[in-house]
Amino acid sequence: MHFADFYRESIDDPQTFWRRQATLIDWHKPYTEVLDYAKPPFARWFIGGETNLCHNALDRWIATQGDMPALVAISTETRSEKVYTFKELLAEVSCMAAAMQALGVGKGDRVLIYMPMIAEAAFAMLACARIGAVHSVVFGGFASHSLATRIDDAQPKLIVSADAGSRGGKPIPYKHLLDAAIDLAHAKPASVLLVDRGLAPMQMVAGRDVDYAGLRVRHQGQQVPVTWLEANEKSYILYTSGTTGKPKGVQRDVGGYAVALAASMKYIFCGNAGETYFSTSDIGWVVGHSYIVYGPLIAGMATIMYEGLPISPDPGIWWSIVEKYRVTRMFSAPTAVRILKKQPVEFMKKYDLSSLKTLYLAGEPLDEPTSSWIAGELGVPVVDNYWQTETGWPILSIAKGVEDIPSRPGSPGLPIYGYKVRIIDEVGGEDCTANEKGMVVIEGPLPPGCMQTVYGDDQRFVQTYWTQSGGRHIYSTFDWGIRDADGYYFILGRTDDVINVAGHRLGTREIEESISSHAKVAEVAVVGVADQIKGQVAVAFVVLKRSDDAATPEAGRALEQEIMAVVDRQVGAVGRPARVVFVNGLPKTRSGKLLRRALQAICEGRDPGDLTTIEDPAALQQIRAMLEARTAQAVN
Ligand code: PRX
Repeated sequence: MHFADFYRESIDDPQTFWRRQATLIDWHKPYTEVLDYAKPPFARWFIGGETNLCHNALDRWIATQGDMPALVAISTETRSEKVYTFKELLAEVSCMAAAMQALGVGKGDRVLIYMPMIAEAAFAMLACARIGAVHSVVFGGFASHSLATRIDDAQPKLIVSADAGSRGGKPIPYKHLLDAAIDLAHAKPASVLLVDRGLAPMQMVAGRDVDYAGLRVRHQGQQVPVTWLEANEKSYILYTSGTTGKPKGVQRDVGGYAVALAASMKYIFCGNAGETYFSTSDIGWVVGHSYIVYGPLIAGMATIMYEGLPISPDPGIWWSIVEKYRVTRMFSAPTAVRILKKQPVEFMKKYDLSSLKTLYLAGEPLDEPTSSWIAGELGVPVVDNYWQTETGWPILSIAKGVEDIPSRPGSPGLPIYGYKVRIIDEVGGEDCTANEKGMVVIEGPLPPGCMQTVYGDDQRFVQTYWTQSGGRHIYSTFDWGIRDADGYYFILGRTDDVINVAGHRLGTREIEESISSHAKVAEVAVVGVADQIKGQVAVAFVVLKRSDDAATPEAGRALEQEIMAVVDRQVGAVGRPARVVFVNGLPKTRSGKLLRRALQAICEGRDPGDLTTIEDPAALQQIRAMLEARTAQAVN
C-alpha cells in the first residue's frame, strides 16, 4: 500500500477510513455514525458506540494471552522488578477499581493521580478507565502550587498518591507537597489513597487519608465489571502549559482515543501482540498515557514502566532491559539520547539488542548528529515523530507500517493519516510556499483521539486553538515550521511562551508567577535558551525592587539560590531556571510588550532582529553586557 493513497483516503473519505480502523478495537455496542462535525470545531467520533479503554487494554487479551507479560515494572531506584501477566494486571486493576468504588468514586468523577513511576500508578489509571472515572495524572516533578491549580480545576473526589518518588537513590517525598497543595486548593478531595513504599514518613490525615495496602487486602480477588461508555464520554484530563499561567486541561474521549491508539500501534509503531514495548517517558506526560499505558496494552503488547535514571546503576541499564525483555519497539526523547551519547559506547555494545527493530524519538527537535549516532550504534532505524498533548498521537512521522518511506535529516516526516496539516503565514493566513517559514496548523476536524475540549471551558478551547478562514476551522499547533518541496515538514520551535526542557513542556508564565511571589522581585521574564543536552533551559531575568540586594556577587548568588528554591517549592524542580540574571530593566516595546524573542536571541548569541519598537535600548545592551561578563567569569 502506498502511504500517499492511505493518507488521501483518510482526508477525502474519513468516514470509510476510520470505520475500517474502528475494527481494531472491541465495541460493546456498535456506533451509529462515524463522525459528527455539525458544531465545528468540536468533532465527535463513533457516535452511540460503547466501549471501554480498560477492556481493550486487558480483558480483551485474557483468552489468548492471559499468562503472557502485560506490565513490567522496573525500578533501579528501589532495585525492584516485577512482571504482571495480563491476568495479574487485570486482578490488580480490579482490586484498585473496587477500592475506588468503596471510596465512593463512580462514573464521571475525577481522580487525580500524583505518583512516581510505579505499577500502582498504572493500576490507578486503568482502574479509573474501568469504572468510567476521569483520571488526571499530574507529573510527580510538579510541586504544591502547580498541583493546587490542577486540583482546583479538576475538582477530584479522590487523589491517589504515594509517600515518595526517588531519584538518583534519594527519596523525593511527595506527601507533604500534596498536603500543602490540598491546603492551598479551594476544592478538597474527599479521600486520598496512599501507596506506602516505605521511602519517606507520612503524616496521615484522619478521615481523609487511606493506606492502599489495607484496602488492597480487603478487595483482593474482587471482580469489577467494566462500565461501558459512549465513545464521546470523557476518559481523562491532562494539564498542559500554554501562554497563560493557568494550565489547560486537555480532555480526551474514550472511543476515538482507543481507535487512534490502536491504529497508531499498527501503522506507526508497528507493534505486535506478544512483543514488548519500552517507552522511557513518564506517566505524567502524554507519551506516558498513550505509549506507556494505553497504546501498547491495547495492542496486546507487554509494556515496561521504568523508574530511574538512564545512566544508573550504569549507562547500560536501558539496553540491559531491551535484552532481558526482548524489546522490539522503544520510545524515548532526543535529550536522553544526547545524555547517553556522552557515555562510553561499550555500555550499549555489551548487550544483545537483536530484538530491537525501531527506536522512536519525540517531544523536542531531533538533531541530525544525535539521530545518526544512535541509529548507527543500534543498527536500527530511528523514527522521529512530532505531536502534542493536545493531539495524543503523532501528527507528523513516517508510518512504516503502511509504507517504508525514507526519512529526511531534521524532519519528523510527513503528515500522518487523518491530519490535514498546513503551513500558513502568520499575518495573512495564506498557505506558505515550499521552504517558507510559517505556522503549523491543522484544518478541522481533528482526527479521532485528539482533545475534545479544554476541560470545563469550551470557549477557551475555541479561543485558544481555533481560527476561521474561508469557512474552514483551523487548529494552531503553536509551532513554527516549513514544508519542503517534497512535502517533508520541519519544526522550528514554538510561536508562544512554551519552552521545552529535556522534552518537558513548560509554560514560562507559571515559572514567572512563582518568581514574582518572592518579596524582593519587582519584575521577571523567563525565556527558553538553547542548550546542547536539554534542547532548552529556562533562564530568568529579574528586576529587583532594590537593586542593591544583588550588589555583590555573593549577594547575587544567594538571591539566585533563594529564587530557585521558590520555584522548586511552588512549581517543582522541573521548572527551576538554570540561571537567574539580575537586570535593571526588561526590554519592552513602547506599548509595554515584553520582547522575549530579543532576550532569547541575545542569550543564544544571535541577532535580536528588528528593535525599532523597543522603548529603552539600554535595557537590552545592559543584559548583553551582563551575559558577556558572566560568560567571561565562567571561562576564567
Ligand atoms: O513544540 C513541539 C514539541 O513539543 C510540543 C508538544 O509537547 P507536548 O505537549 O509535551 O507533547 C509531546 C508529545 C511527543 C510541540 O508543540 N515537539 C514534540 N515533538 C517534536 C517536537 N518538536 C520537534 N520535533 C518533534 N518530534
